[in-house]
Amino acid sequence: MAAEPVNVKEFEELAKQALPKMYYDYFAGAAEDQYTLKENVEAFKRITIQPRILVDVSKIDMSTTILGYRTSSPIMIAPTGMHKLAHPEGEVATAKAAAACDTIMALSFSSNCTVEEVASSCNAVRFFQLYVYKRRDVSALMVQRAERNGFKAIIVTVDTPRLGRREADIKNKMITPELANLKGLISQEVDSDKGSKLEAYAAATLDPSLSWKDIAWLKSITNLPVVVKGVLTSEDALKAMEVGVAGIVVSNHGARQLDYSPATITVLEEVVDAVQGKIPVLLDGGVRRGTDVFKALALGAQAVMIGRPVIYGLAARGENGVKTVINMLKDEFELTMALAGCCTVKDITRRHVKTEHDRHR
Ligand code: FNR
Repeated sequence: MAAEPVNVKEFEELAKQALPKMYYDYFAGAAEDQYTLKENVEAFKRITIQPRILVDVSKIDMSTTILGYRTSSPIMIAPTGMHKLAHPEGEVATAKAAAACDTIMALSFSSNCTVEEVASSCNAVRFFQLYVYKRRDVSALMVQRAERNGFKAIIVTVDTPRLGRREADIKNKMITPELANLKGLISQEVDSDKGSKLEAYAAATLDPSLSWKDIAWLKSITNLPVVVKGVLTSEDALKAMEVGVAGIVVSNHGARQLDYSPATITVLEEVVDAVQGKIPVLLDGGVRRGTDVFKALALGAQAVMIGRPVIYGLAARGENGVKTVINMLKDEFELTMALAGCCTVKDITRRHVKTEHDRHR
């Protein structure tokens, strides 16, 4: 591609050119038929935006508050693993870009830079994503390290009792690069030359017995707010509130876990209705345009998180690439607000979008 990328999608092409096939497939791929992968993006396209005209939009304010932290826009960085496969500077580059864009980053448990390295690289507000391992002591220690290093929330991922079946990774015999946080804490050796080493590592470490009662355990070992990531139904949203979480992420893990789980944007409203404004609801999965951010907010999300686009920016251009991707989405979102007649995020209402469901009423 000779010309500079003009949208997030074009960054994917640059990333594909920059990365070895094994790594690109790991980042871009998803589970089994990848039905949900396509749907996450396609479902946004079935929602239209109903603009209001003749509103003075000479000043647009995209800022919002997430778990009490003021941020320049409702766009956050989702936790994604192993950034050094995308760029040698790894998560430190991503964190610096987040700080430069005044954007909150959620650091993955499965990062290639440590929480200490990321914390000392910039002053941005950061959340820490947690996997609960069979070795609970290892997960508990990570929560303490995150807290000690100034991370502001724990996002516990609850859609991964086992790893989804990612067929490209199986074919490529996907490797497990060193997970920096876990060095010296747990063996990262995988004794298998069949299929995805990542899957074998996940099977050895992830705790499939994790259940609702364990949220109380997690809350008991930290003063940080606990957010659950991976809610897709109103039933689970109600349970999450019962166990006292501080927030919910509507997520299907970027379609990498349960294939044929619904596109996140199609179940957002169900979750938002169940929660009734008592705790914030975030959404990730398939956000590729500023218009997608607008649609998610109109359907009740406090903010969105972006996963793959950040990695594509990082792979293509390092820290600058991540900045460009975030700024593209922010610029598009700002323009969408202006063209839809909304000057602040509070002005974006349910009446600004029509879903398929609305049209069939
Ligand atoms: C992820 N995701 C993820 N989630 C999590 O809780 N912990 C993790 O370590 C990872 N790792 C990870 C790696 C890669 C390569 C991807 C693509 C995704 C899921 C992530 O947080 C988020 O839910 C999705 O990426 C959102 O979908 P989009 O924006 O990628 O479509």
